[in-house]
Amino acid sequence: MDKNRSLELFRKNREKMLSGGGKEKISIQHSKGKRTARERINLLFDYESFIEHQPYVLSRATEFGMDKKKQFGDGVITGSGKINGRQVFCSSQDFTIIGGSLGEMHANRIHEIIMLALKNGKPYIQINDSGGARIQEGILPLDGYGKIFKANTLASGIIPQISIILGPCAGGAVYSPALTDFTIMVDGISNMFITGPNVVKAVTGETISHEELGGAKANCNKSGNAHFRFETEEDSFDLIKRLLSYLPSNNSELPPLGETLDPVDRKIPECLDILPDNPKKPYDVRKLIDYIFDEKTFIEVHAEYAPNIVVGFAKLGGRTVGIFANQPLYFAASIDINASDKAARFIRFCDSFNIPLISLVDVPGFLAGVSQEHGGIIRHGAKILYAISEATVPKLSLIIRKAYGGAYVAMASKSLGYDRVLAFPTAEIAVMGGEGAASIIFKREIESARNREEVKSIKIKEYTDKVMNPFIAASYGLVDDIIEPENCRIELIRSLEMNINKVEHRPIKKHGNIPL
Ligand code: HXC
Repeated sequence: MDKNRSLELFRKNREKMLSGGGKEKISIQHSKGKRTARERINLLFDYESFIEHQPYVLSRATEFGMDKKKQFGDGVITGSGKINGRQVFCSSQDFTIIGGSLGEMHANRIHEIIMLALKNGKPYIQINDSGGARIQEGILPLDGYGKIFKANTLASGIIPQISIILGPCAGGAVYSPALTDFTIMVDGISNMFITGPNVVKAVTGETISHEELGGAKANCNKSGNAHFRFETEEDSFDLIKRLLSYLPSNNSELPPLGETLDPVDRKIPECLDILPDNPKKPYDVRKLIDYIFDEKTFIEVHAEYAPNIVVGFAKLGGRTVGIFANQPLYFAASIDINASDKAARFIRFCDSFNIPLISLVDVPGFLAGVSQEHGGIIRHGAKILYAISEATVPKLSLIIRKAYGGAYVAMASKSLGYDRVLAFPTAEIAVMGGEGAASIIFKREIESARNREEVKSIKIKEYTDKVMNPFIAASYGLVDDIIEPENCRIELIRSLEMNINKVEHRPIKKHGNIPL
């Protein structure tokens, strides 16, 4: 072909490739309040930094009229660009082309880009907006999904992987986001379910809308499949940009070290105001977090799910840390099945990516009850023990009030490897609360006394004084220091600096067997 004809063909094809599913499909996409795959990439990546990989891939399917539906790219854009100057890999499904459905070549592109991200040690972001397996292509999409699931799994713990669901994500398609580290959804446009409302109706007779079954709220609040919920696509991209600035590009790097304007010697007199005088009264641990960590740096993860434990990233003296904190506002901060899953997964993410962990402890124990026992609180609770024992990053703990029983072991014990355990003078560390303990060990004396209530309160005080105050734990070396509450930011920053070069090795093994 001569030069002019070659260039003409190139320009024509390039224009076709860039036009996605065409004007009509794009306007339908916009009418649903959704952006196109390319518009999303333009919003997410630094200006003109994105380069597309394999944009001229075409479907090889011919059956059921598919030979006439072929379009460049096969319904997904893949490539790499810069987000705030850092290299990131991405796939963005194009609903305007055959509903963003996943055919053989579409899957190959996604697989290729995940493997490239992995080989380059850079984060991978996937934007999902798809009708699922391309029905006309039979078994090939299933093979494609399998390849993607395996790539997500191989990349897990090596590069951060984030999914944004900006449209339908149904059937087997949901398992790729579930295999990534974080999933973001947007109200009104995201759906994630194994089977939609029609199948649910046919199988169980239940009537439910798309939004109620698998919308952003259902997945963030009820199932915990998704970690963040936003009102707009733009907000979800802003979160990604912010989140990436806390994370290393891969597991062999340290998280980015930022400058902080928040003084490292800032005292927090407000600490004591936040803690109620009555130790049984709740308070919002997020207020403490806001004061302790660098100003306005807290990113709460999984905010709507298992609110009895708060997890998230913040900066402390400019360094990224992962926080997990008991939240007395819900279930008196007891750890239940869902809180165990939430905390354990977060802890494992932080450990994978060299992010020091800090626990804020005020916990009366694992949650009691038949539904918890039968639901497997033993197995689920064990996940936190496993995750903490396994973690080799610096592990700090600050005991605020209660640290009882197995939950103490999970949240603040030297035995699981917390490197520095600090306690407020208000800390109470014991097998259980004074009341429960006294009523067991002094049962006979209390029952035989004429004034039971009086004897009981004397015994509670005796137990509390003898066992629960933090100086007892400190005398055994199980609390490393007891600190003035107003100095907790300063003390945590110093403790972090003290442990930041920590190296801890584990015996070599293929992999552990976390109780799932
Ligand atoms: C082929 C598909 C498709 C699919 C959508 N389209 N999904 N083509 N395979 N899975 C096509 C439509 O035919 C239509 O083509 C175009 O995409 C836009 O779809 P609409 O239905 O017009 O859009 P909308 O009304 O917004 O509805 C979107 C939808 C619906 C809710 C996603 O299309 C739908 O229910 N699709 C099927 C979903 C599904 O059952 N997928 C398989 C899941 S099973 P035209 O040419 O008319 O524009 C699965 C198993 C994987 O994924 C297992 C892996 C382990």
